[in-house]
Amino acid sequence: MKKHNFYAGPAILPQEVLEKAKAELTSLNGIGLSVMEISHRSKDFDAIITSAEENFKKLLNIPDNYHVLFLQGGASQQFGMIPMNLLKGGTADYVNTGAWAKKAIKEAKLFGNVNVVASSEDKNFSYIPKEYNFTDDCEYVHITSNETIGGVQFNDFPDTGDIPLIADMSSDIMSKKLDISNFGLIYAGAQKNIGPSGVTLVIIRDDLVKNSADGITTMLSYKTHAEKKSLYNTPPSFGIYIIKLVTDWLIELGGLDEIEKINAEKAGLLYDKFDSGDFYNGTANKEDRSKMNVTFRLPSEELEKKFIEEATAAGFIGLKGHRSVGGCRASIYNALPLESVQELVKFMDEFEKNN
Ligand SMILES: Cc1ncc(COP(=O)(O)O)c(C=O)c1O
Repeated sequence: MKKHNFYAGPAILPQEVLEKAKAELTSLNGIGLSVMEISHRSKDFDAIITSAEENFKKLLNIPDNYHVLFLQGGASQQFGMIPMNLLKGGTADYVNTGAWAKKAIKEAKLFGNVNVVASSEDKNFSYIPKEYNFTDDCEYVHITSNETIGGVQFNDFPDTGDIPLIADMSSDIMSKKLDISNFGLIYAGAQKNIGPSGVTLVIIRDDLVKNSADGITTMLSYKTHAEKKSLYNTPPSFGIYIIKLVTDWLIELGGLDEIEKINAEKAGLLYDKFDSGDFYNGTANKEDRSKMNVTFRLPSEELEKKFIEEATAAGFIGLKGHRSVGGCRASIYNALPLESVQELVKFMDEFEKNN
């Protein structure tokens, strides 16, 4: 039976990428060795990491004064690494939009003064706050561009002027066009839109690297990784290889212009379904609905349980909401084909009729 993968992360990868990786698994480019078996200092691996970096620069139109880094420790490690490097005695402003923003805030508080300048906690994180009063001369502003659990997403980013804007884009990086020059730092765990778990993408402006704190343990310092081009120590080489293939795939598909259209179409199918009846109810405020993680409820928890069971049996995998909030969630990342969403909507129609 065909499986439709709606997991939130680790999540679906393009089928073409898996096939290519399979074909090359035991012999990369005919060298007779697997990418997992070669030195990270070899010319074959150098070609991979360089090409992955170039692909990001091309897809996101990244200006020359930014570094593209492949790190480890997940996005969670960035929650601490950011304040450790960039909160140097002043204040950092955070926007609290949900479970992931909260975790980032908790870590930042270990390193300095944190000002939560806006929060949607009053309405159970169902919307994106639109008004901010940034602290005068704060060191940076941190947002979570897409809340994977709550299913809300920034459409417009706050204008922070000269204050560096930092965004956790773990669950919507590469899903739409982006003006990198509005950001000081962007980070994302790879396991949703760009590859397997184990790699964290960091795009950081050079002046932030230069001005980052000294005296930090080597592995947690941006200076180390920028200077050594992500090769200070042994990187997650297989993960970076897959990221290279995923970004090749995205370029081939037509880049971010094209994927943005497809993503809008996929999300539209589900949200239209919610809006055309009252059996499935989206949990996010309409104008802040995520195009990556579509969160919804059914009329009762009993029906939700039945829905998830029957959907799973029919091949729709990963539709259970995050354990902290319950309900249902369809994660519809870049690699999920339009057809999977079309099939899900058909299944939803049928389930509604029968219940
Ligand atoms: C928005 C967001 N931030 C951070 C994280 C944590 O990422 P990691 O598991 O890579 O540490 C996740 C994981 O799902 C996420 O969705």
